[in-house]
Order: sequence, then structure tokens, then C-alpha cells
Amino acid sequence: MDVRVVIESASGWAQVATDALLVVVSAGTSPASIGGAVGEALAAAVADGDLEHKAGRCAYIARPSGLRAKRLVLAIAKDDSAKAFRAAAAAGLGVIKPLGVEQLAVACSGEIGAAHAQALVTAVGDATYLYNLTKPSAPKPPKLRAVSLLCSAEAAVDVRAGVKRGKAITAGITLAREFANRPANHCTPTVLADEARRQGKALDFKVEVLGLKDVEKLGMGSFMAVAQASSEPLRFIVMHYHGAGKSDAPLVLVGKGITFDTGGISLKPGAEMDEMKFDMGGAASVLGTMRAVAELKPKMNLVGIIAACENMPGGNAVKPGDVVKSMSGQTIEILNTDAEGRLILCDALTYAERFEPAAVVDIATLTGACVVALGHHHSGLFASDDDLAARIQAASANALDPCWRMPLDEEYDDGLKSNFADMANIGSRAGGAITAAMFLKRFTGKYRWAHLDIAGTAWKSGSAKGGTGRPVGLLTQLALGMADVPISPKAKPPTKSAARKSPAAKRAPGKR
Ligand code: BES
Ligand code: MN
Ligand code: ZN
Repeated sequence: MDVRVVIESASGWAQVATDALLVVVSAGTSPASIGGAVGEALAAAVADGDLEHKAGRCAYIARPSGLRAKRLVLAIAKDDSAKAFRAAAAAGLGVIKPLGVEQLAVACSGEIGAAHAQALVTAVGDATYLYNLTKPSAPKPPKLRAVSLLCSAEAAVDVRAGVKRGKAITAGITLAREFANRPANHCTPTVLADEARRQGKALDFKVEVLGLKDVEKLGMGSFMAVAQASSEPLRFIVMHYHGAGKSDAPLVLVGKGITFDTGGISLKPGAEMDEMKFDMGGAASVLGTMRAVAELKPKMNLVGIIAACENMPGGNAVKPGDVVKSMSGQTIEILNTDAEGRLILCDALTYAERFEPAAVVDIATLTGACVVALGHHHSGLFASDDDLAARIQAASANALDPCWRMPLDEEYDDGLKSNFADMANIGSRAGGAITAAMFLKRFTGKYRWAHLDIAGTAWKSGSAKGGTGRPVGLLTQLALGMADVPISPKAKPPTKSAARKSPAAKRAPGKR
């Protein structure tokens, strides 16, 4: 999609020659303040009862008088915020989508900035994406080819920056959506690894792919246990983007890549089981973020890790009660084979230690309990580090990709006790999203860590069934933020010998 920024004030909108002009009007804006032919069209639409001054409403005017545009669409926004602008633009795009519009100009009654521009580009990407890999009969994609965003001369620099960011994030979101949408027989761990390699070649980042032998050598007994009943070989994918000095500690993203989750021996019920092809949404968001970041080239280092396999039942499947040894050395009693996400993530989290990360964020469609708690709007955010949590919340707000922080108090850890291993892989049903996060926390002591449970936000069910590409926006924004203000890695605890030598340790005899 070609998105350009054009400097044009409201008095010039009528002179823009285009297939369609979309004007976003904040509720309460008077037609007179817009003025000209667009103001007149707005006044007439309201007077005729065609347009209520209420957020989300749109009016379509063909061959509008006094305008060089062939079509005019007016869309009402709640206020001047980027969020309201995106919602109104999305509604307007819904009107334009079925029409033969190839070129679109977009204007706003209020002042726009980088966040608005970024929001518009992602809304256009959202409206024009079409899944067709396994559906040859899919309708033709919308004809829309070029979008001009009209803004004032003062705003142009910011708006251009927002468009650039928006384009890269949209490419990342689209990539994540596409792979999440692909059925499990078209998106195996091997396919994911091949796509990672392809993206690495195209955008110039390094990709390593480990197979069964490699992860066996590393001692990833927990990951291997999940994969063992599938005839699709597991893949452990490691992607490296270098935008800063070699010694700069990277941000590490870890994605859950279960390409299909049957539940294993703890088999899931049949209804809606098809949706478990989306259980690699975390992995898809890591891949999409690598793509977006590699395009924007911020001065920071990023590592993307994807643990990918299928969770299947079978004669050689892992059984409830089996005990496995994770890469960390801790043993795990697998009481429920459907709690498999944490079993593959824990080994990936241990692997992440080798990068001496500034921070590690894992992203996973981890629990149905998170959907019960937060629904489909906010992703669940869990963090052992308040600074990292605050950064993620800020990135989430900037990217209009909401998340909500959940608790991680030690009390929630109780349920993970096992008589036969260092821990069980499930706790009580109550607070299930939190006990899942507490399980992961046991593998993350060496670095700043956060976990995003995207079970409710990675895809939509019902008639609009499909991947959303979330939280690529949030993660990309987080990576960009790190280039401006780096995160310092967690201080290493003093080694035993250093503690003995340290005078401070001697002076505090009570602290032993
Ligand atoms: N992939 C599922 C989580 C999930 C469920 C995502 C529904 C989206 C919608 C995960 O592997 C799972 O099965 N979790 C179990 C955990 C339980 C056995 C402790 C769950 O949520 O039921
Ligand atoms: Mn499961
Ligand atoms: Zn799962």
C-alpha cells in the first residue's frame, strides 16, 4: 500500500482530486469550522437526517457538489484522540471497501500527529487484508492502492514519522495474521521455520533453526515431551536483529508456537477445537515484530525465539503424571497435558539466559482463564519487574494495543506443589491465568521478565473468525522505546565467593 502525506488545510480539501475523500469529524465539530464544500456537505447530511453526530456514524455522498473528489465519506469520531480517529477511519473504510476506490485521501477535522498517522495506516492494513491461501474462491481484495493523508504543514514531520512506523507495523501485523490464519496442515513448525528464514533473508536478520537432536543436547526435556506424539518434527527458531553495539543487552521475545493444540491425552472437547490452529499466535507475533523492527532499524538489539510443535495424543504421547526434566534442571509433573504452552515456554525461557538480556517478554495464547478474566479487549500482562511493566503499558497505549496488568503474588504459587517433582504444571482452576504465569516465573529469575497472555486477543471467533496480529503493535513500540531509553539488565546476584570477600556481607551477619 502506498501511503503518502500531503500538506493541505481544510480550505483546500475540496480541491483534492481523488476517487474518495474520507473526512473524520470529531463529534461536536461544527460544519462552519470546517467550512467550504466539505462543511456544506456535512451540514446538509446532518440536516437531512443522514448523519447523526455520534461516534461510529458515517455518511456516503456520491459525486459531492463543489468537490473534485468522486466520493465523500464523512465519519464521526468520539474526540480528537488517535484511538477515536482510528475507530472512525475504520468505519469509513468499511463504507469505502466494497466500492471501486483505488485512491483515497483522508483528512481530519482536528489536528493530527504521529499516533493518528500510525493508527490510520494500521486501519487501512486491517481493512484491506484478505486471507486466500486455501480459499481460491475468496472475493477479490479491495482495489484500494494509494492513500494520501492530508495534514497541516506544522504536523507533516510527525505525521510522516507515524506513517513510516505504521507501514512497518502493518507489515508485521499482516504477517502475524496470515500465519495464524493458516490451517495447521499449512502451518507446521517446519513451515514457520522456513518463513522465519525467508523473512531473515528479505530483511537482513540472522535466523537459526534447531531440531530435535539440538534441543535434546540442550536438555529441553519439557519442550520435547509436548512434541513427542506428533509426526511433525519440532522446531526451535532463534532470530537476531542487531541495531546496536554487540555488547548492548538485547530485548528477547519468546513466542508460544503450538501449531495445533488438541490437548494431548487430556484431550480437548470437539467444539471449536479448530480454533486451536491459532495456538501459535504468540509465535506469529514474534515473527511479525522481527519483521517490523528489521524494517524500522532502531538502535537496539532484539532476539526473537519461537518454540514450535504440535500437541497431539498418541501411543507415544506424554501421559498425565509423567515427570520430565526441564533445561533448567527443575523437574515437572505433567498433571494435565493440555497445559502444554508453559511446558514449551519454560525451556525457551531458560535458553534466553544465554543472551544476558536487558529484558525477556514471552507472548502466549496460554489460558482460557485469561479470556474469562479480561475478554477480548485487553491482553493479560504479568511482570516481575515494575519498570518493565510500566514500559509495556506505555507501549501498549501508544500502539493502541491494550493490555492490563495482573497480579503475581507468591501466594498464587502454592497450587503448583507436586509430591513427585519440583512442581506440577497446573494449579487450582481459580486464577488459572495467574498460576500459569507463576509457573513461568520459576524459570525467569536471572532477568527482567514479563508475560503477555494473548488467549483472548490473538484471534476473533464467530463470523469474523481470524487472527488479529496482536500484539505486534505493542511489541514493536516496546522495541522502538528501548532504542531511545535502554533498559539496564538486572544486576547479577553476587557469587558465593564474591559475597564472602565483600565487606558489606561481613557487616550484615543477620542476613544469612
Ligand atoms: N491453548 C490453550 C489456551 C486457550 C484456551 C487459548 C482457549 C484460547 C482459548 C492452552 O494450551 C490450554 O489448553 N490451557 C488450559 C490450561 C489448563 C489445562 C490448566 C486451559 O486454559 O484450559
Ligand atoms: Mn492446551
Ligand atoms: Zn495451548
